[in-house]
Amino acid sequence: MRRPVLRRAQEPSGANSNRSDKRIYEYTNKQSHILFGLPILLEQRISMKVNLKEKFSQFHDHWHPRIIGELNGQQVKIAKVKGEFPWHKHDQEDELFLVIKGELTLEFKDKKHILKAGEMIFVPRDTEHKPSAKIETQIMLFEPSGTLNTGSEENEFTRKDLEVI
Ligand code: NI
Repeated sequence: MRRPVLRRAQEPSGANSNRSDKRIYEYTNKQSHILFGLPILLEQRISMKVNLKEKFSQFHDHWHPRIIGELNGQQVKIAKVKGEFPWHKHDQEDELFLVIKGELTLEFKDKKHILKAGEMIFVPRDTEHKPSAKIETQIMLFEPSGTLNTGSEENEFTRKDLEVI
């Protein structure tokens, strides 16, 4: 698992600096270099409200997660999904899927779950699973930072260096 390294892009300019200044920090790891403020806000005991509807309005493609936050080494991601996603497993990471809108099917080798808005499922590590959705569905994911969406496989669905929105 890749562990991102956080460092400040600029020091807060003292007690009178405004809050938006404090949100601008660099977030770096070996493969990406993006602005990411939430972990630093939390480190400084500053809360931040997130409006999911507004976040979902910022993108339209399917099976392409965006990062909306990170805490305790875990990332909170959102994605719009529709159609079939390939079977895969994550060797080290447990995953959580929460359905915000629509309907998500989560298939395992021995069972199948249908999740409606407001329902969530825990997917254990090292367990083959296949998400799919008949209609466009909005989901939130909670998983360790660096978890690859296609797990131990890389294919046309693999998305790396996810955008932070
Ligand atoms: Ni997965």
